[in-house]
Amino acid sequence: MKSLGLTLLLALPVAAQGTDEVPFITTPDHVTMTMLRMAKVTEKDYVLDLGSGDGRIVITAAKRFGARGLGVEIVPDLVKQSIENARKAKVSKRAEFREQDLFKTDLTTATVITMYLLPEVNLQLRPAILALKPGTRIVSHDWDMGDWKPDRTVIVDVPDKKVGKEKSSKVHLWTVPAKMDGHWCGSGQSKGVTLDVAQSYQVARATFTRNGKPIAVIGGTIDGAELKAMTIEGRKDAVWLRANGDKLTITRAQGELALAHGGVFTACK
Ligand SMILES: C[S@@+](CC[C@H](N)C(=O)[O-])C[C@H]1O[C@@H](n2cnc3c(N)ncnc32)[C@H](O)[C@@H]1O
Repeated sequence: MKSLGLTLLLALPVAAQGTDEVPFITTPDHVTMTMLRMAKVTEKDYVLDLGSGDGRIVITAAKRFGARGLGVEIVPDLVKQSIENARKAKVSKRAEFREQDLFKTDLTTATVITMYLLPEVNLQLRPAILALKPGTRIVSHDWDMGDWKPDRTVIVDVPDKKVGKEKSSKVHLWTVPAKMDGHWCGSGQSKGVTLDVAQSYQVARATFTRNGKPIAVIGGTIDGAELKAMTIEGRKDAVWLRANGDKLTITRAQGELALAHGGVFTACK
């Protein structure tokens, strides 16, 4: 951590500041656009940039995508610069900046979180991110989140990149998955059926059982609140499960599982 921070700091112009842990390095404009496009930012979004530097990500989200947003930054001069940059871009009403520690920031108001930090910092933030509302999108410039694999990674050319050996940047996207792990008992169309879900981040495997006899094993990826899962054998049987509060509902089903449509599951007592 220290050595990486130091390497990055040594590559910085004198005027640039940051913290010892995470120095100030700007995300190039075309990488910012890639981050916001990958997160599918619209005017309905509230974009939170953790460690917002000169404010460019939140300002671009407001100016180019019509979003609202907040940048939190620990260096006072950078916060002042961001407020001035937002004023010049005529987005002050939608792009707010605060001098604030990102670790003391409420993440729950964001629909999109952007980060250009360090791998260790991403990992420190990971538990709080995984506890956010399902569907919240996270985009990180260059650094990943350990064994929580991204939904998507895009590599962007950055010929004049000042840090590291690569002349490119990675942009990673994650969508916070709903918690579906557990032992669920069915009602409605699924009365008498139990559902056991084993979940690792956005990847889930579910076993349907009726009267102790396995009916189907399905697997798939959780996208926000919804799991689209297919039978492991690759047949055309599929189930769409939606997490809603403390319930799982089968919103669509096809093939041999079609009869399960409309089934509702709650945690078995
Ligand atoms: C690599 S820069 C990224 C700036 C901007 N997000 C961008 O992508 O252009 C990281 C920023 O995080 C800020 N920072 C570091 N630790 C922080 C903390 N604990 N709370 C808030 N900001 C922090 C640094 O001052 C620096 O401006």
